[in-house]
Amino acid sequence: MTSENLKQAVAEAALDYVPRGEIIGVGTGATVNHFIRALGRIAGDLEGAVSSSEASTRLLEAEGVRVLTLNEAGDLPVYIDGADETTRHLQLIKGGGGALTREKVIAAASRRFICIVDSSKLVGTLGRFPLPVEVIPMARSYVGRQLVKLGGRPVLREGFTTDNGNLILDVHDLTINEPMKLEQQINNIAGVVSNGLFAMRPADIVLIAEEGGIRTLKGQ
Ligand code: A5P
Repeated sequence: MTSENLKQAVAEAALDYVPRGEIIGVGTGATVNHFIRALGRIAGDLEGAVSSSEASTRLLEAEGVRVLTLNEAGDLPVYIDGADETTRHLQLIKGGGGALTREKVIAAASRRFICIVDSSKLVGTLGRFPLPVEVIPMARSYVGRQLVKLGGRPVLREGFTTDNGNLILDVHDLTINEPMKLEQQINNIAGVVSNGLFAMRPADIVLIAEEGGIRTLKGQ
């Protein structure tokens, strides 16, 4: 199977976790794009969706799904999103698409976070994928120096502005042995809006598309 086939398979599997008649959270990225297309088939059974990006909002609306703000919707029963890396402990790196801050807020406001990935995303230790950090523009250089002190090599994502009007530093060369500690350390740097580690609020379920089918990892 191609990587696109795997993404599509796991996106279809996620439909089983969508409660009908409710408002759900929907993330961002190539895997989620497959999910949004699948969601279109049951759009009439949904109350609506809260979207983590302008790109997903456009796709959801094209599929006939009503998009609400998180402020309108309140807490959500379920959030479905992809990831750039996941461990067996359901801790993630996200933000390859630059939507990490809204993703983190929606994950925090959701009772269940279902993460959908293909098997290439499963790693033993997080950090091979450069860790995205969203920073306000005037703090870019200061935050970069602090990230170097933490052992990383921050690289500005050229020509990219987040939906919140900020910049992304992609931090290379981190070996992340203590994801919760690093998530907090980076959050504590002045000028950081959020970082792509989802360790303090990991996924509740990770669905992994493999050649043989869908594997389900569950948290406690
Ligand atoms: C978006 O900002 C990310 O967090 C995505 O969830 C992540 O990059 C996975 O995207 P793909 O499904 O495109 O690999």
